[in-house]
Amino acid sequence: MAKIQAVKGTRDLYPEQFRPIRRIFDAWRRASELHGFEEFESPTLEYLDLYREKSGDELVGQLYRLTDSGGRELALQPEMTPSLARMVAAKINALPKPIKWFCIPKLFRGENVQRGRLREFFQWNVDVIGSDSSIADAEVILVGIEALRNLGLTAEHFSVHVSNRRLIAAILAAGKIEDGEQAGAYALLDKAGKMKPDELAAKWNEKFGERLALEQLREWLSARDVSRLAESVGGALGMTEELEAASAQTSDVMSALSAFGVGDFCQLDLKIVRGLAYYTGPVFEFFDKSQNERAICGGGRYDDLLGKLGKQKEPAVGFGMGDVVLSLLLEDHGLLASPDRRRIVFVADATDGLRSELQRVVAGLRRAGMQTEFNYVQQALGKQLRHADKHGAVAVVILGDETRERNACQVKNLASGTSKEVSIDSLLADPAAALGIA
Ligand code: HAM
Repeated sequence: MAKIQAVKGTRDLYPEQFRPIRRIFDAWRRASELHGFEEFESPTLEYLDLYREKSGDELVGQLYRLTDSGGRELALQPEMTPSLARMVAAKINALPKPIKWFCIPKLFRGENVQRGRLREFFQWNVDVIGSDSSIADAEVILVGIEALRNLGLTAEHFSVHVSNRRLIAAILAAGKIEDGEQAGAYALLDKAGKMKPDELAAKWNEKFGERLALEQLREWLSARDVSRLAESVGGALGMTEELEAASAQTSDVMSALSAFGVGDFCQLDLKIVRGLAYYTGPVFEFFDKSQNERAICGGGRYDDLLGKLGKQKEPAVGFGMGDVVLSLLLEDHGLLASPDRRRIVFVADATDGLRSELQRVVAGLRRAGMQTEFNYVQQALGKQLRHADKHGAVAVVILGDETRERNACQVKNLASGTSKEVSIDSLLADPAAALGIA
């Protein structure tokens, strides 16, 4: 039989490969908690219907579907947002608002496997539910920026492109492309970067060209200044209340980002429309500055999703940041390698007959909070020391016949190369001090 391999688009994460990802998780958790977000979990299996209308055609086409023994149509979670909305909608009145939650699920999408795109990946989700304040939009972006800074990335490495679906919708509406058709316009704009210009123009002109010239729209979407954009659109197509309100909302998010001190990381970029169906307002994506990688992170405001899943409408904003693109970006900048955080102490027995004493010392050190290793089988001391080295030990405790008589041991600090004798009692009472690795 042919050897069975890992499924295409999944990863076998051996400890060595998982270590840098753990470091990313730590940065994600730390940033979330510092900003007041609490961790939650959801099931990996959901009813297929949850995604049918909520996520948009592209994602539904990528679902891993299955039918359970009762004939129910299920799917492996391709994203967290519908599950979060479902869970919150079910308890909306019992939860104090704003709800600030985060999670790090494993997600599944049947995508074309390519650089930065797998079929199974981790995705950090950060969401605020129950506030329509632009400061909430800015705060979720802030959490994302702080986590990346924690990992060593700076404004030289990445930037946040902020857009607003509501503003784009207002421009389209001013150009007589109404609600029902806007989803089609977003889908085209979302793909614009990946399509040949002729192909895009042909598709646009066929549907919308008579009402709004693609060239003109793209010029507006390239604007870097919201108020000048509103003036220009208003001048050409007539100012509307919605255009004014959407421009003000966009400016508010940009100002809130500056007030949080991260304005330098952020720029207006209305070319971002996001592929998912449920966004209603400001949306954003994080990109690496070299543009070598896909988006590191994407999110935005989705004020209608909870209302569709429950009885009550509730404003919400959040993002998802995957581990795959982020790892590539860290690697591009030599920031992936994690400092070996294991501070292992190795306990060796120099002669036979000291095994139970060794086990007592090992258990005592571990109980005192030291990561401790030893060999299951007694071997020559030189071999054990080589083993200690392989484990990356910072100190070695050597038990021998002679020191045993004094209820003591030899400790060697591998960084300084110094050795000394210490009593077992003092070693177990304060191992860091006894080993000189405080
Ligand atoms: P999304 O844009 O589909 O948004 O995904 C967000 C991020 O997840 C991407 O920028 C990328 O880093 C990562 N990602 C997505 N698909 C893959 C893949 N196949 N392989 C590797 N990484 C991937 C959402 O999922 C929204 N639910 C985010 C959100 C949360 N919006 C509001 N709250």
